[in-house]
Amino acid sequence: MSVTEAVNIDDLRKLAKRRLPKIAFDFIEGGVEDEDGLQRNENIYRQHRIVPKYMIDNLEPNQKTTLFGREYDSPFGIAPTGAAALFRPGADMMLAEAAKAANIPFIMSGAATDSIENLAKTAPEHGWYQLYTATDKSISEDQIRRAADAGLSTLVVTVDVPTRPRRERNIRNGFTRPLKMTLKTKLEALKHPGWMVDYLKYGKPVLANWVKYAPDGANADEVASFVTTQTGASLTWDDIEKFRKLWPRNFVLKGVMHPDDAFRAAELGVDGLMVSNHGARQLDRAPAPLEVFPAIKAAVGDRMTLMMDGGFRRGADILVALCLGVEFIFMGRPTLYGAAAGGRAGASHAAQIFSNEIKINMRQMGVQTLNELGSEFLLWDDLDDLQRNKR
Ligand SMILES: Cc1cc2nc3c(=O)[nH]c(=O)nc-3n(C[C@H](O)[C@H](O)[C@H](O)COP(=O)(O)O)c2cc1C
Repeated sequence: MSVTEAVNIDDLRKLAKRRLPKIAFDFIEGGVEDEDGLQRNENIYRQHRIVPKYMIDNLEPNQKTTLFGREYDSPFGIAPTGAAALFRPGADMMLAEAAKAANIPFIMSGAATDSIENLAKTAPEHGWYQLYTATDKSISEDQIRRAADAGLSTLVVTVDVPTRPRRERNIRNGFTRPLKMTLKTKLEALKHPGWMVDYLKYGKPVLANWVKYAPDGANADEVASFVTTQTGASLTWDDIEKFRKLWPRNFVLKGVMHPDDAFRAAELGVDGLMVSNHGARQLDRAPAPLEVFPAIKAAVGDRMTLMMDGGFRRGADILVALCLGVEFIFMGRPTLYGAAAGGRAGASHAAQIFSNEIKINMRQMGVQTLNELGSEFLLWDDLDDLQRNKR
């Protein structure tokens, strides 16, 4: 099966699994501790039933969505994923190009293997930057200035990494930062020659946005070691207040789960939240983002743009979230599976799968635009609810 023959996201996942050595695939796939959160994230959307309405003329449903005053072609974007070039050399810019072609946003990771400046050249209108705070706050401030000078529209500060999580697959596989290829890893990697050839040809990818701050002449491993000493730093509300003042455009916090934090962010002038549990990679007992969404919405009302990521694998999952009031969604693994399996074409194909599924499900639901979605399309708990929601 080639990437363009992949019928759904799970097919892309299988292709990525085939191409990548276990140490790399498990890094993408894994959660933390018992990995209960992974299933919780995916299952939450499937627990809802979409109730269709028929006999409506909606041959070409329109899934365009306005976010921070800009129109995108679909209600989803690409979440930040670090170390992407380890899965496919050049993956960051492939994802950026795929996002630009699909007219959806792409968030460059704070642990990206390409630079902010390159992102601004490749996808100036679609690229956002995600900040991982450094212990030395002058580094974070400099990265914020670089993203602002490059003209990027949106800064996303990830708040859910107060400590390095214990991802047990990585521990068992010997996944370290910097990555060390033990004999066992190399032998297993030989079963994935496509990946191995790329690895030997291109070498270890560099965390490009940190080179400037690492010791002069540092190689990929030395930059990675430097980043390890700088990250996992404490991030406080004082920092958020400073970053907010420094950043002139849309300012988003990623990883907010508690309504108290959402309320406090709104008070500080944060423009948007990405309700997220980091793809179940930080706190295994964390709820699925959709479970906390109603409380967050109640805490901040319309004061902020509310986005979400985690566990979206079908267009129908996205429609369920939109019916419940989420404004925009992001995906991490699905587009990364695509890029790992088939580069730029694979990333584009992942986006295409989602937009096709959204279109077909909108046809089934009898809606012409996403503005028409609401909780009356989800199977009602009691009939009073349905009457209340009736348009
Ligand atoms: C391989 C991988 C790397 C990630 N790296 C980052 C990162 O650098 N910064 C960040 O804020 N989130 C990171 N995330 C989390 C994603 O941004 C996103 O929250 C998560 O993948 C969403 O869940 P999903 O994979 O089920 O779509 C990473 C996720 C994965 C799978």
